[in-house]
Amino acid sequence: METQFKKTKILNVVGARPNFMKIAPIHRLMKSSDRIEPILVHTGQHYDEKMSHIFFEDLELPEPDVYLGVGSGSHAQQTSAIMIELEKIMLKDQPDLVLVVGDVNSTLAAALVASKLHVPIAHVEAGLRSFDRTMPEEINRVVTDALSNFLFVTEESGRQNLLKEGITAGKIHFVGNVMIDSLLDHLDKATTSRILTHLKLDHQKYALLTLHRPSNVDNQEIFDRILTALEQIEQRIPIIFPIHPRSRKMLAQFQFDDRIRAMKNFNLIEPLGYLDFLHLMKNARFLLTDSGGIQEETTVLGIPCLTLRQNTERPVTVELGSNVMVGMDTQKIVNESVKILNGHSKKGGVPPLWDGHAAQRIVKILEQGTIFSSTQ
Ligand code: UD1
Repeated sequence: METQFKKTKILNVVGARPNFMKIAPIHRLMKSSDRIEPILVHTGQHYDEKMSHIFFEDLELPEPDVYLGVGSGSHAQQTSAIMIELEKIMLKDQPDLVLVVGDVNSTLAAALVASKLHVPIAHVEAGLRSFDRTMPEEINRVVTDALSNFLFVTEESGRQNLLKEGITAGKIHFVGNVMIDSLLDHLDKATTSRILTHLKLDHQKYALLTLHRPSNVDNQEIFDRILTALEQIEQRIPIIFPIHPRSRKMLAQFQFDDRIRAMKNFNLIEPLGYLDFLHLMKNARFLLTDSGGIQEETTVLGIPCLTLRQNTERPVTVELGSNVMVGMDTQKIVNESVKILNGHSKKGGVPPLWDGHAAQRIVKILEQGTIFSSTQ
């Protein structure tokens, strides 16, 4: 007689740009699992073609099963709008588990709704801590981790942080890094990108910049200090800046446009899709960034990364990888850039389990860990 298994229904929730490359390998594996029925929910936190849709195409993610369309707003507005819409979906779909990734407002909102409905939560990229509670992401991480049942960590610091916060060891799983799964999966495909030709750039003959943290771009004095550093660096090497909508808005508000126009070697462009950005990153001399994910990707690619922040929640990228923290001090940013241009860049290695198989480990653990409840 054939045994009938009821598949475990898992709601995979994403909302903002850095979520999409994290969910892609997990959702794909779940789709081919005979034990899991995944449902992809997009909150609509990011909604522009270039912040969202293009990533679904580049990552070959299916159209979301559910799109909540919440859009932008203050933290409370955005988080509560996601909660209200998601609660309706969860009451209707009755998932056995909710899986969230990263540290954006959509991550927090989904964890809050699931926990109040007594639905178990899996958090991918758990345990990262900057110990800076002025960062909205830090609040999202701490709360999401406190509510989660499966905590999947990318590096040893994550496990240590969670243990210190009183999370039981049995809930913590060191699985590696799903962002690196996507990176390794798409490196070959990214070589088909025409972005270098399009921007008239040669291998290693430019620096790539990303900047969007509120602590950098919402503060005029700090944005000014960073811009002053960029004005000096662009005299030595062209800088490409795919600009985030938040930063574009703030540049205009602070009336920095004239300074940008005056920099002849500074190319401000629209946000890029995943494949174009990977290709541009892989061929860059070095990165200047305040992103979290880019610190990890450059570490695996062995490309020097200067992080324009005071702290990182990803210490392994500094301890083992090619990442150097330069803060927001003009002179330090310039000095470290010049060091790289003079051939003295930091060499690094690849952290443990950042091997392209993190999603496999996660799905296997979920298949084993949730099967009991799903057959009840
Ligand atoms: C969010 C995440 C941040 C992540 C970043 C990646 C939180 C708290 N922050 O920051 O961790 O690193 O995404 O991009 O969740 N906007 C558009 N089009 C869009 C989306 C946003 O124009 O598609 C503009 C709006 O003016 C909006 C602003 O960007 O008000 C900020 O968007 P929001 O989602 O609040 O935060 P991000 O700065 O994108």
